[in-house]
Amino acid sequence: MTFSDDFNEHVDRVGTNCTKWDKMEALFGVPAEGGLAMWTADSDFPTAPCVREVLRKAADHGVFGYSWDHPDYLNAVVWWMKNRHGWQIEPDWVLTSQGLGNAIALSLDVWSNPGDGIVIFSPVYHEFAMKINRAGRKVVECPLKRDGDTYALDLEDAQARLTGAEKILIWCSPQNPSGRVWTPEELRQVAEFARRNDLLLISDEIHHDLVYPGSTFVPMDVAAPEARPCLVTLTAASKTFNVAGQRTGNMIIADPDLRAAMRHRLKTLDYGPGMLGVEMITAAYSPEGAAWVDAQIAHLAENRRIFDTGINAIPGLHSLPLAATYLAWVDFSDTGMTHDEIAARIRDDAKIAASPGPSFGTGGESFMRFNLATSRDRVVEAVKRMQAAFGDLQ
Ligand SMILES: Cc1ncc(COP(=O)(O)O)c(C=O)c1O
Repeated sequence: MTFSDDFNEHVDRVGTNCTKWDKMEALFGVPAEGGLAMWTADSDFPTAPCVREVLRKAADHGVFGYSWDHPDYLNAVVWWMKNRHGWQIEPDWVLTSQGLGNAIALSLDVWSNPGDGIVIFSPVYHEFAMKINRAGRKVVECPLKRDGDTYALDLEDAQARLTGAEKILIWCSPQNPSGRVWTPEELRQVAEFARRNDLLLISDEIHHDLVYPGSTFVPMDVAAPEARPCLVTLTAASKTFNVAGQRTGNMIIADPDLRAAMRHRLKTLDYGPGMLGVEMITAAYSPEGAAWVDAQIAHLAENRRIFDTGINAIPGLHSLPLAATYLAWVDFSDTGMTHDEIAARIRDDAKIAASPGPSFGTGGESFMRFNLATSRDRVVEAVKRMQAAFGDLQ
């Protein structure tokens, strides 16, 4: 089966109540008519045929009564982790949340108290800090070290920022926004840092499937199995299969006590996954789904090449090479412009909605993030618009 055309199909999302296109004018001042939505991390791709098929069958069946996270679903998650990531898990390690934003909020609730410090390594997915603040916990931001085209850990600096009042470390792997894939040695160092500081380690691995040839993603649990007593891994099909709207994610927890605590909280809240999300993920985590993901990665790799070549041809702009994710991280520091000037040109001249780097915390000040998970012609158009918007730098 070939899927390559699926990724270039223009599905009109405007007017479907999708956040990315229908909220872009209100949030970014870029109208959908004539604008390009390159901000929030969902793709413009229709999901895999095997996932759409299961929804068609459900619609034809027409009965949507009570269901649960049944063994076929749990076994599909187990199969995916084993076959795609070399990670052997057990079905009963898998708990289901309403997506990973929800899993992070639940974890803060279960394993920390108001006022506790929560460690993050910035620049990082902006919602980590927002969720920590909303929950009345304290963000303890430890900047990553810029190392040429990439980022490195600075655990000595991080150690100096801790006061002993920290309870949790939220780790992002692969890293959003830098697209960094961490090595097993780096992961072991992070696990050891968490152990040394008595921190629960939440490893958010939502971007683990979208890794480019030449890089290998390793789950934290595989790199540092010794961390299991304090490790909660978060995974989801939402980015991989563009099914984020189903709000279904997984918390994979090997440790029985940690698992029991989260299971209890889910019961207390009477939380259970929706039937359609469960069926979609069961269908996605299959050999058919895997073949579709491989085709998607090939499409994204070419989008990344075109975008990087075009952006890096503009003096002063530098798109960092992504090892994973469809989120290009572009440094504007050599333009000498303020963030407001850069954002205005992208919004008003290029008519692109892109995510502002400063929202990702320390280290993101001179950056903008562009979502490349769209058709090839839209990426080509975005490059053209950026070259025109920053044409005076040529
Ligand atoms: C690192 C990371 N974690 C979590 C999420 C949100 O996941 P969900 O849509 O499952 O709430 C995102 C979305 O961009 C993300 O990049």
